[in-house]
Order: sequence, then C-alpha cells, then structure tokens
Amino acid sequence: MALEVTDGGVAVITVNNPPVNTINAAVRRQLTDAVVDIRVRPQVRAVVLVCQGSTFFSGADIGEFSGPPMEHEYRQLFGAIEALEVPVVAGMHGTALGGGLEIALACHYRVALPGSRFGLPEVTLGIIPGAGGTQRLPRLIGVERSLELILSARPVDVERALELGLLDAQINGEIRAGTIAYAEELLKGGGGARRTSERAVDPATATSAILERPTAQARSQYPHRTAALTAIEAVSASARLPFQQGLDLESELVNRAKATPESKALVHLFFAERETRKLPGLPPELRAGVVAKAAVIGAGTMGGGIAICFANAGLPVTLIDSSREALERGLAVVSNTYDSMVKRGRISQADKQLRMALIHGALDYAELADADVIIEAVFENLELKRQIFGRLAAIAKSGALLATNTSTLDIAAIAQATSRPADVIGLHFFSPANVMPLLEVVRTDATSAQAIRTALDLAKALKKTPVLARVCYGFIGNRMMEGYAREAERMVLEGATPRRVDAVLEDFGMAMGILAVFDMAGIDVSVNVHKAHADKYPADPSYYQADFALHAAGRLGQKTGKGYYRYIAGDRARHDDPEALAILQATALRLAIAPRAHSDAEILERCLLPLINEGIRILAEGVALRAGDIDVVWTAGYGFPRYRGGPLFYADSIGLKAVYEGILKYQRLFGPMHWQPAPLLARLAGEGRTLADWDKVRD
Ligand SMILES: NC(=O)c1ccc[n+]([C@@H]2O[C@H](COP(=O)([O-])OP(=O)(O)OC[C@H]3O[C@@H](n4cnc5c(N)ncnc54)[C@H](O)[C@@H]3O)[C@@H](O)[C@H]2O)c1
Repeated sequence: MALEVTDGGVAVITVNNPPVNTINAAVRRQLTDAVVDIRVRPQVRAVVLVCQGSTFFSGADIGEFSGPPMEHEYRQLFGAIEALEVPVVAGMHGTALGGGLEIALACHYRVALPGSRFGLPEVTLGIIPGAGGTQRLPRLIGVERSLELILSARPVDVERALELGLLDAQINGEIRAGTIAYAEELLKGGGGARRTSERAVDPATATSAILERPTAQARSQYPHRTAALTAIEAVSASARLPFQQGLDLESELVNRAKATPESKALVHLFFAERETRKLPGLPPELRAGVVAKAAVIGAGTMGGGIAICFANAGLPVTLIDSSREALERGLAVVSNTYDSMVKRGRISQADKQLRMALIHGALDYAELADADVIIEAVFENLELKRQIFGRLAAIAKSGALLATNTSTLDIAAIAQATSRPADVIGLHFFSPANVMPLLEVVRTDATSAQAIRTALDLAKALKKTPVLARVCYGFIGNRMMEGYAREAERMVLEGATPRRVDAVLEDFGMAMGILAVFDMAGIDVSVNVHKAHADKYPADPSYYQADFALHAAGRLGQKTGKGYYRYIAGDRARHDDPEALAILQATALRLAIAPRAHSDAEILERCLLPLINEGIRILAEGVALRAGDIDVVWTAGYGFPRYRGGPLFYADSIGLKAVYEGILKYQRLFGPMHWQPAPLLARLAGEGRTLADWDKVRD
C-alpha cells in the first residue's frame, strides 16, 4: 500500500494486494494506518482510494469466514474512512464485489472506469453483506433497488450504477489520475465530505407492498434457504433503524447466516471449485502447453457444442465430420444456437459473426495438423474411436493434446491405439456442451503430467470447471448415477409414481427429478448404454427395467412426447400418464416385484445413500483426487443442490454413522447385492469421523 499527498493536497491511498485485491487482515491494517496518518496531516484536502492491478477490491477474504467474526473490524475501518472531514473518493476499476463495494459505499463519492462492475453476491455464499452494505446501500439507492442487487447477486455495469445513483461519475483514462482530477474538481466546486450513513432511506422504497414480492419469491424459489430472507430483514431494517442500530442488526444477522448449514455448504463449494485445478505432486515448474488452435472431430450434438465453447473463448477451431451433409447440419445447429443467443440478448449479431468466423468446417483430417488440441466426439463406438486415434498420431503436431469425449468407453483402450498414449486424455463435456460448466478430465495411467496440466488450464480458458478423474466405467459422475437412478426406477416398479419420486428429489433440492431427466435425455440413450455394457452390471432381473419397458413401448421421453410422463407439443410441462403407469405395473407383475408403500424419507434415502456410497468408493480408490472434487461434479454437472454442498459434504453433515446404518437397513430389506457399505464408510462410521477429516490425512 502507498500513501502520497499531491501538491494540491489530495491524499492518494493505493492498495496493491495481488491477484485481486482481497481485503484481508493485512490490507485492513494498512488502511487503518493510512486513515490515522491522513487525520494528522493538515494539508490534506481530499482523499482518493484506488487499487493497483486488474481490479478494485474484489471482496472480503472468504478464508476468514471460518474464524472469529470480523465484522467489528470492517465496521471500525469503514466508519473511520466515512468519518474523515475531507471528501473521500473511491476510484474503481474491474469488479468491486461484496466487501469491495461496501468500502466504496463508505467513501463519500464513487467514480469508475468504463467496463467496471459492481455487486453484492453474498447470498451465493449463504450470507448477507456484513460490512455495512445492507445499511449504506439503501441510503443511496433505496430499499427496493438494494434488494434487487443483493438478491439477484448479479453485478451491474457502469451505466446501470450511474442510473441507480450508486456511482457519481464515469471517468476515462487512467484510474489514479482520473480520480485525483475528480477530487480536485470537487474541491473547486466546494464539494465536501458527504457521508452515506447520514442520509435518510426513502420510505417510499420500503413499503410492505414492495417487500412482499421479494419475500414471496425467496420463499418459493429457495424453500430450504434462509440467506435471501435474512438479507430482506437486514435491508428493510435500514428504513426504520438509526444507522448504528442498523449496523448492530446487520452484524447479528450476518453471524447467524454464517453459522447456517447453507452457508457452510456454499463456502465449502466456493473453495472446492478453486481446488479442482490444483494437482498435488506435479513439479511446480511444469507449464501447460499453449492452446492457440483447436480441432473437434464429429460435428454432432457434442462436437458442435464443444466448437462453440472454443469460439466463445476466442480460439479458432476446426470442426471435422466424415460427410459434407453431417458437417453442414452440424454448422447449421451451431449457427442456430448463436441465433437464439442473439435473440435472448446474450450476444450481438456482430458477436455471432465473429464467433462463427472462428469455426472452420472441414472434411479432411489433414486440417488437424496445426491444432494444439484435438477433441474427438464421434459416435460412441470403441472400434471407430480407436481407428481415429490410430490415424491421429501421424497427423497431429507433436505435443498436441489428443482428447476423447467418450462417456462410457475405456480411454486406456483408445490411447493404446496411438503411438502417443501420453498425449491422450478424456475431456468429458456435458450436454449442452456450450452451457454446462462441468468438464471431467480423465487421465489414463499413461497420460503425461504435461497433458493433464494443459487440459486443466484449457478448461479455465473455456470457462469450465474441470475435475480430474482416473479411468473407470462412468468416471465420477455417471458411476455415482447408477445406484441413484437404479433405486428411483425400482421404486416406480414397486408402485411409487414417477411424479412422487421426482417430487421428493426436487423437494430435497435436485434441479430435476431423475425420471424427468431420463425423459429429457432420451430413454433410448440409457437403454443403449445398458445394452452395450450389460457385462458391467449386477445380475438383477429388475435392473433398469422401467427404462427397458418404456423403451419397448416406444416411449423414449420428451422427443416422442411420452416417457415416464406425457408431454404436449410446445409445452415442457410433465403430465401424469396412466398408460405409463400401466406399463410399469405390468412390468412389476412380470418381474414379481412386490408393491411397497414408500415414505418420502425412504424415497430420498434409497436414491441418495447409493449415490454417497459409490462416491466414497471413488474417493477411496483414488478415482477422484479429493472429496470436494466429487461434490463439484455433482453440483456443477448433475443438479445436486449447492446449498447442501454436494453428496459427500452432505454425508458428513448428516453423519457417516447415519449413512452407514441407512445402507444396512436397506440391506436387511433388499439383500446385499446393491446394499453393501463401502469399506471406507464402514471404517469412518465406526471411528466417528468425517470424510473431510479423512481426506486431509488419508490414513
Ligand atoms: N449426447 C450427450 O449427451 C453426450 C454427453 C457426453 C458425451 N457424449 C459423447 O460424445 C460423443 C458424441 O456424441 P453425440 O451425442 O454428439 O453424437 P452424434 O451422433 O450427435 O454426433 C456424432 C457425429 O460424429 C460424426 N462422425 C461419425 N464418424 C466420424 C468420423 N469417422 N469422422 C468424423 N466424424 C464422424 C457423425 O457424422 C456425427 O455428426 C460420444 O462419444 C458420446 O458418448 C455424448
């Protein structure tokens, strides 16, 4: 941090805490010292607060959340800044988020460079702004607008911030010089200290009618979450409480929020998502290969989506198919996808053109020669993929990453078809590839460390969350899906309706019930996989038989207008269908499956316990590097509720003993074939430990 006073009497505080100017304890100390220093310098007529590097303060130090409460420190510091007798101007650039925006609110004036963004995303961590934000923001922009900003958690741009009155001016050029010039102008115009805390909240923005809407929305949208409601409580209090009392309430509420399971889960994921790119044991000097150009083989559903990911990241990509017709169809789908993004205002027509220009369609494999990464996304057929990888070694440039998007095939067997198995890796995108954030990166025993590093860094460039897995059937996500979906299907054969099973899962917080997911993905997809890999599944005559029965009746899901549910053209709503129920009932009769009256608790346990159990096996086998990685897979790729932290975090939160005993309970009811506790689960449950614990020591 630096403090200098210009000849014109402007004290300039410049903070530099790379990489993103987090307000940690050291920064708070330095700022406090600066304020003390400024107070005793009579020549200071105004103060400017700016940051060096890529951004203004990006937020508070989330690592401090698990420690003792810090609000008083923030309160003291921000209060001292605001209490200065001379005008204080925050000059912002980059993204001012959370505590980063709250410090600006404590300044007397706010200016920013074009392109800056401002937000209070605390509710995404299950908490509320706790450094005065809930009390200062409404004094500037009113209660209604404050709630919009805080509850949406989405940052606003300069134009919107000016409209709201959050920002006083946009400045151009260099942030430091621009802010000093703004302060000098202020002084010339007689502008003095202007404390946000001394303003009154406009009562017209806090009527009960205004508060009702976000309250009802928070209750219906997040039935298991409390952060949004707590934020409403704090912000609305600003209209009736004096400022200091408002701050007292805010501190109390933020500390209560930090202690909720919701916040603990969300903070866990915040860190887990940052960990996934870290690779223990890799030499630190290992650098990722540069990816300046990509190629995708197969212009189908996945190939087209993957090409879009590259183009969106500004990387040129060659999209190859085996026939002109398939290629043109694929490029048309890409173009349509961009059209719908233009229609929804996500990108401009000019953006579309720029991105389409980065995607080059081709039929000749020779065009792969200059690609730094080649991703194969042809039909799910081992021989075909081996053939392609056999050809790649002769064409691809030396060191190019050779990736496959297979979901179910043995990547080691694909790698053996090339003379460069060290370059081969799985890049398992999820559908739609241009939307879903998860990317499973699958290494074989032969994959080089360099290839892994390149893949993990590439994921970042593509704005994906990568999770590293070792080769096994289903990798992390789909392998855990097996038991989860198996029980859901089995329960509909036992007489639970698809709606009931899905409702229990959705009430738990899954983005979509699993049977509705099957209808959306296509029941044929699941059946084909199960037919192709019959040797890998247990000898259970009821295994996935609901899928098989519906498939045999031509009910493939949404694409045929019927599956577990019935669909009406142009409408995605699920309708109950007696015909589906009759098919399921007849199947149960044929398989002599006894009907059962399921409680909601049973439905949930029978789906979740196998999911958790398999996750623990995956962890123990080293297929996943960390428990947190498994949580990221299921929250980023499979709609597991983030506020429950992912399946393994959730297991720890309900206790491994309960998980273990639950599995034994169903073992007694249904036998050991599907109900066998993972050995690590049995051990940790016996020792009264958690997975998070074990993950640290791995004894
Ligand atoms: N669809 C999904 O949800 C999904 C999700 C994850 C992974 N995957 C995997 O992605 C891969 C592709 O799946 P998809 O759904 O996009 O399939 P798709 O049938 O939509 O597309 C496959 C494309 O590959 C082309 N192709 C076939 N042989 C080729 C060859 N020799 N050279 C060049 N192109 C060739 C076809 O013409 C077709 O356009 C599969 O391995 C699949 O398991 C699919």
